[in-house]
Amino acid sequence: MSWGLQNRLSRFVRPRTGHTVMLAVDHGYFLGPTSRLEKPKETIMPLVPYADTVMLTRGVLRKCIDAATDVPVVLRVSGGTSIVGPDLSNEGLITTVDDALRLNACGVALSIFVGTSHEHQTLLNLAKLVDEGEEKGMPVVAVTAVGKELGKRDARYLSLCCRIAAEIGAHIVKTYYCDDFEKVVESCPSPIVVAGGPKIPEKKALELTADSMQAGAIGVDMGRNIWQSDNPIAMIKAVRAIVHNDVNTKEAWGVYEENAKPRRKKRK
Ligand code: R5P
Repeated sequence: MSWGLQNRLSRFVRPRTGHTVMLAVDHGYFLGPTSRLEKPKETIMPLVPYADTVMLTRGVLRKCIDAATDVPVVLRVSGGTSIVGPDLSNEGLITTVDDALRLNACGVALSIFVGTSHEHQTLLNLAKLVDEGEEKGMPVVAVTAVGKELGKRDARYLSLCCRIAAEIGAHIVKTYYCDDFEKVVESCPSPIVVAGGPKIPEKKALELTADSMQAGAIGVDMGRNIWQSDNPIAMIKAVRAIVHNDVNTKEAWGVYEENAKPRRKKRK
């Protein structure tokens, strides 16, 4: 690994713990103004102090994030599809590594769609990005997307996706938690971060985080389960406590409750 690549990586995978809390706010690239991310700046900025990196598109970065903000950035560089289009897996590269360098990004992220009709094209996108990333010192995060049509979140399928991403050269692999997740981690030579997925109750999302770490993930790349929470700051603090301070779900729930707004009492 070149010095530059290693240096960029260690800006968001904290050297103290070897772990990372990535804040995923790139959803608009195919979902448009999704719930609670309608005004990106208002959602993202209060969470920035607690994130090891924000993962977003160059458009939101340029328009919504103050250039003086000292947060490492991982740029989403694949896309070209939408939730109302014919096929979400038909992604191409939408941002160059040169633009990522201009934006002082410390990583780039791209989705692969294994088992879809666009498997070949998205895996070649990854190979191309890794070649360029190695040449220019830019870490590549491969996102193993699980399309609606696949609906598979089992260890066999996710191991296949993660291993292929690592074989092609991804520096970090992002995937979903599943039963027997340690099998997915063990068979993937690259470090794994876990996506949160659709919003679930806070305690469940903390449990998912703790189970992922227990199984060997190096962190999370979490979005909706943080910023769609009624208490997003409490939530990211609790996630951080698990990822960096090795607390269990019960202790993390304590962190959440301590930082959450008091619940309004129901009128009788
Ligand atoms: C989806 O591909 C997006 O890249 C998100 O970054 C990813 O799904 C993680 O966000 P969430 O925790 O909301 O699933």
